[in-house]
Amino acid sequence: MATMNAADQQQRLEALISSISHPDLWRPVEEVEQVLTTGSIEGTGDPNTKDFLLVDVSGKEILDLGCNVGYYTYLALKRGAKHVVGEDIIPESLEIARILGEKHNCPGAEFREGSFFTRNGAQHEMVFFIDIIGNNSVREGRAVDQFDAAVRAVGKELIISVRPVFVPERHLAGLKGAPPLEQIWEELRETYGGEYCRGDHFYFLEWAHDRLGPGWKVNPLPDDENMAYSIRKQIFHIVRKDG
Ligand SMILES: C[S@@+](CC[C@H](N)C(=O)[O-])C[C@H]1O[C@@H](n2cnc3c(N)ncnc32)[C@H](O)[C@@H]1O
Repeated sequence: MATMNAADQQQRLEALISSISHPDLWRPVEEVEQVLTTGSIEGTGDPNTKDFLLVDVSGKEILDLGCNVGYYTYLALKRGAKHVVGEDIIPESLEIARILGEKHNCPGAEFREGSFFTRNGAQHEMVFFIDIIGNNSVREGRAVDQFDAAVRAVGKELIISVRPVFVPERHLAGLKGAPPLEQIWEELRETYGGEYCRGDHFYFLEWAHDRLGPGWKVNPLPDDENMAYSIRKQIFHIVRKDG
């Protein structure tokens, strides 16, 4: 593709930004530009980002699944990753990500359109799966296929953000299209198993841990085992033991 001059590039960027809105444009472009220009996350909106900085990405080949406008792609490159492939199903977000890298002269990223459900089976040393598994996907049971798709892509390490423990009455019952609470519980038991539904809580991380089996280690970031029982979204570093 021919490189655009700076004015055309800025015009194209602005046109793309106004052509999509949240959630397709998941993060403010200014936050990605801040990461690209300063390498700093100071003042960016996501409370999990500072925990992400505990991940050692230096020299690694990374796949950022569901990368959107490339916030974590570029954060990883600024923290010393060797190369990052960002994949998403929204072409406009990928074009924004590409232009931002060119505008701020940050090589090392490659953005591809594609769904994590239909990948060719290629694995990457480290995979990011950040802000993909959320309340809706857990409630609707899509989180099972999402989690499996992420794990299939992992050579050695998976960085995932997820709420370890759900309180269905609080986190799932008010969602658009959600059935009554009793039915939500029934569906959770059916999809994930009754052993993960105890008291008022649904233990998603426990389910994920068992789904992975004994060949994997799940580490919360920061390394505090209370995080595994948090009802707030946390970042986990999951490592293939034999990888
Ligand atoms: C909530 S955003 C998170 C974006 C990014 N990981 C971040 O934290 O800035 C979820 C992203 O996943 C993408 N996505 C959803 N389903 C996908 C799929 N099947 N394959 C690839 N990307 C997908 C969406 O298009 C969206 O950009």
